[in-house]
Amino acid sequence: MAPPPHQRALLLFPLIFLLLLLLAPPRADAWGKEGHIMVCKIAEKYLSEKAAAAVQALLPESAGGELSTVCPWADEVRWHYHWSSPLHYANTPQVCNFKYSRDCHNSRGEKGMCVVGAINNYTEQLYSYGQKTSYNLTESLMFLAHFVGDVHQPLHVGYEEDEGGNTIIVHWYRRKTNLHHVWDVSIIDTAIKDFYNRSMDTMVEALKMNLTGGWSDDITHWENCKNKWATCANE
Ligand SMILES: *[C@@H]1O[C@H](CO)[C@@H](O)[C@H](O)[C@H]1NC(C)=O
Ligand SMILES: *[C@@H]1O[C@H](CO)[C@@H](O)[C@H](O)[C@H]1NC(C)=O
Ligand SMILES: *[C@@H]1O[C@H](CO)[C@@H](O)[C@H](O)[C@H]1NC(C)=O
Ligand SMILES: *[C@@H]1O[C@H](CO)[C@@H](O)[C@H](O)[C@H]1NC(C)=O
Ligand SMILES: [Zn+2]
Repeated sequence: MAPPPHQRALLLFPLIFLLLLLLAPPRADAWGKEGHIMVCKIAEKYLSEKAAAAVQALLPESAGGELSTVCPWADEVRWHYHWSSPLHYANTPQVCNFKYSRDCHNSRGEKGMCVVGAINNYTEQLYSYGQKTSYNLTESLMFLAHFVGDVHQPLHVGYEEDEGGNTIIVHWYRRKTNLHHVWDVSIIDTAIKDFYNRSMDTMVEALKMNLTGGWSDDITHWENCKNKWATCANE
């Protein structure tokens, strides 16, 4: 596959910068493309008629009317929109609970700059749909659809000390990798390969069936957040 334009642009950067990039330690990054595409393929079917119409209106031409195609976008702009990088995750100080006031900030201590703050932020922006707004709601939608995926990757809310599992070296079958990457990519890739005949769409269909079948009793429980639009973890 041809690299998307932003990667092609990267290739034009001085070699030294490329080298720095390659030598940089793996950062707490995102669910792989597959994870984000699958989350959005499933979510699309659950949009209300009104929401689906707004999504269609906001999607860029290049999406061909499919929300899932823009769901990896936020990862692709992480270098270009450097400020957005901390919005993909949240860290806790080695405790198994999340406190918004304590944990939701970037490395400079700016409040709200974490995945939970970002979900609130872009949700709120999208409420201005249909009114005059200074926000680019296409970007708000692409960010929101991505971050809701990220926040459900367990290691996107992890310990600061091990960078959400990025510094924990493990073996996935015979391959040496890190725990964060196992959750981002390896589990999904292996499942697609071993259980779903190498087809992401087959896996998506199976998950959709699970939602109406085996997991249907759990759904109300998942939805049962006190304050839904502000996300659950809003202490
Ligand atoms: C909210 O969105 C705006 C526009 O993209 C961005 O500049 C700001 O950093 C975002 N803040 C958070 C907490 O996501
Ligand atoms: C909104 O954001 C998208 C994606 O970054 C961009 O292609 C588009 O030109 C922006 N629209 C405006 C009006 O700036
Ligand atoms: C698996 O996929 C191949 C094509 O990629 C297809 O020919 C085959 O019938 C599929 N098998 C099953 C069990 O769906
Ligand atoms: C989910 O779907 C798969 C494949 O259709 C099935 O094997 C599995 O039992 C289902 N799980 C639940 C909890 O329903
Ligand atoms: Zn991400």
